[in-house]
Amino acid sequence: MTETLEGRHIVVTGGTGALGGAVVGRLLEQGAICHVPNAHAAAPQHFPFTAHDNVKLAHNVDLSDSAKVEAFYSQVPALWGSIHLAGGFAMAPVEKIESASFAEMMDTNARTTFLCSRAAIRSMLASGSAGRIVNVTARAGLDPRRGAGMVAYTASKAAVAAMTVAMAEELKANGILVNAVAPSTLDTPANRADMPDADFTKWVSLEAAAESIAYLVSPTNRAMSGTLVPLYGRA
Ligand SMILES: NC(=O)c1ccc[n+]([C@@H]2O[C@H](COP(=O)([O-])OP(=O)(O)OC[C@H]3O[C@@H](n4cnc5c(N)ncnc54)[C@H](OP(=O)(O)O)[C@@H]3O)[C@@H](O)[C@H]2O)c1
Repeated sequence: MTETLEGRHIVVTGGTGALGGAVVGRLLEQGAICHVPNAHAAAPQHFPFTAHDNVKLAHNVDLSDSAKVEAFYSQVPALWGSIHLAGGFAMAPVEKIESASFAEMMDTNARTTFLCSRAAIRSMLASGSAGRIVNVTARAGLDPRRGAGMVAYTASKAAVAAMTVAMAEELKANGILVNAVAPSTLDTPANRADMPDADFTKWVSLEAAAESIAYLVSPTNRAMSGTLVPLYGRA
C-alpha cells in the first residue's frame, strides 16, 4: 500500500450532508473508496456522487442504532479510515429544552460518534490496521462560553471532543490515530439561508475544512493524535 489514499477504504458518516459532500469529493480526488451510510431509503438529490464507482452508499442506516452501525461496518472491507461528520444542531433557551430534545442532541452528535468510532476500532483491531479516525466537534465544544443559547448542542460536542482525546490515548499502542476538527461556522447553504446578513467571508469554506480532514485521515499524518483542530476561519 502506498502512502496515499489511493485504493484505501474510508467511511464518511454524514457523507451526503454539506461538509460530507466536500469531504467525499476531496477523498475521491485522492483515489479513496468512500463508504457512505445514509439514514434514508435513497441519497438526497443534491448528493453529486450517487453513481460514482468509488462511492458505496448504504441506505436506511440510522447511526444512533448500535446494531445498524455494526452491520454497516461489518461489510466494509479493509477499513483504513473512518470520518464521523453525522450530526445536528439545535438552539433553545435552557429553560425550554425538553429532556427528549437534550437526549436527541446527545444521540445525534455524541452517540453516533461513539458507535461509529467503536465499530471502526473493532474492525481496525481485528485486521491489525493502524488506521485513522476523524471526528467533528465544534468551537462551542472546545469553548463552552460560546455555547449560550445552545446548551444541549454544546454538551454533545464537548462529549465528542472528550471522547476523541480519550480514544487517542487508549489506542496509542495500536497505532490508530484519532483526531477531531472543531469548526466555528461553515459556509453552507443552510447557514447562508439562516443568517443572510452575516459576512460569509469570515466563515470556513467547505473545501478548506475538507482539506484538513483529508490530511488527518491520510497516511501522511503519522504523528498527530488526540488533537482538536480549531477551524475558525476569520471569525
Ligand atoms: N455547519 C456548521 O457551521 C458546523 C459548525 C460546527 C460543526 N459542525 C458539524 O459538522 C458536521 C457536518 O455539518 P453539516 O453542516 O455538513 O451538516 P448537515 O449538512 O446537516 O449534514 C449532517 C449529516 O448527518 C446525517 N445524520 C445526522 N444524524 C444521523 C443519524 N442518526 N444517522 C445517519 N445520519 C445522520 C444527516 O442526515 P439527514 O440527511 O437525515 O439529516 C446529514 O446527512 C456536523 O456534525 C455538525 O454538527 C457544523
